[in-house]
Amino acid sequence: MKIAIVTGASSGLGREMVLQLGDRYGKLGEIWVIARREERLVELKGRVPVPLRILPLDLTKEAALYRLRKELEKRNPEVVFLVNASGYGKIGPVGKVDLEEETGMVALNCEALCAVTHLVLPYMAKNGRIIQFASAAAFLPQPGFAVYAATKAFVLSYSRALNSELKPRGIRVTAVCPGPVRTEFFRIAETTGTIPLYKRLAMASPKRVAALAVRDSAAGKAVSVYGPLMKAFFLLSKILPHGLMLTVMEHLQGD
Ligand SMILES: NC(=O)c1ccc[n+]([C@@H]2O[C@H](COP(=O)([O-])OP(=O)(O)OC[C@H]3O[C@@H](n4cnc5c(N)ncnc54)[C@H](OP(=O)(O)O)[C@@H]3O)[C@@H](O)[C@H]2O)c1
Repeated sequence: MKIAIVTGASSGLGREMVLQLGDRYGKLGEIWVIARREERLVELKGRVPVPLRILPLDLTKEAALYRLRKELEKRNPEVVFLVNASGYGKIGPVGKVDLEEETGMVALNCEALCAVTHLVLPYMAKNGRIIQFASAAAFLPQPGFAVYAATKAFVLSYSRALNSELKPRGIRVTAVCPGPVRTEFFRIAETTGTIPLYKRLAMASPKRVAALAVRDSAAGKAVSVYGPLMKAFFLLSKILPHGLMLTVMEHLQGD
């Protein structure tokens, strides 16, 4: 059976990916939706013309990865899309954010993303697509959001390398790198600090970011960057010295 697997499906970008993949790829036999909040996953049923398999899992737990491994072994699906959208960030200087939150970002954004990818890879269809949610925070170190930005730099680097590795199998990996998006992300991120005004003003719609991610993934793009502002930021981060950009950002943070 051809399926899609989406982590972080209970809200924001992951949820939007479920809705858009379901609408665009009605021939999928199932979408497996993963997150901790089961009621949110159940609520998605009936909103997409594809049956959902609800997997309420905390992906930072060994037992959750075991459960996913067993589901894959039992059902032996052909995975056409894997979307890794589970992730979170906590704003604040290193050492001021709780230790569990600092290491927790690494555990979910990096380790769990690698683990899910590893487990699903043997089941990926030829010409299948992997969509990894990185962030524009991957482009440049971010004082005040250091651990989060570093986890996303990891996701971007990992995804690009994986994209090269998987080309012989016809599988393409797209690292999605949006700037700020209007989701529950900031409700969680801002319990430890607030985002600068310029980020609040640049908030994108999750629908549009997800739509571009689906299009870019179908086109086989390695990186998906939404909006002219973030595209310019991406370009500048490639051509300007990062020290200079960090100084500019330090001034903007002060606003
Ligand atoms: N919003 C932005 O500005 C933005 C910008 C760039 C990149 N991103 C990235 O895009 C992805 C989606 O973020 P979002 O904006 O959609 O945020 P969101 O609305 O807060 O969604 C995060 C998702 O991750 C899931 N999650 C959190 N902890 C988990 C765990 N331990 N195990 C399994 N799932 C877990 C949450 O579900 P449960 O709580 O139910 O587990 C939720 O479904 C993230 O990787 C984020 O870093 C976001």
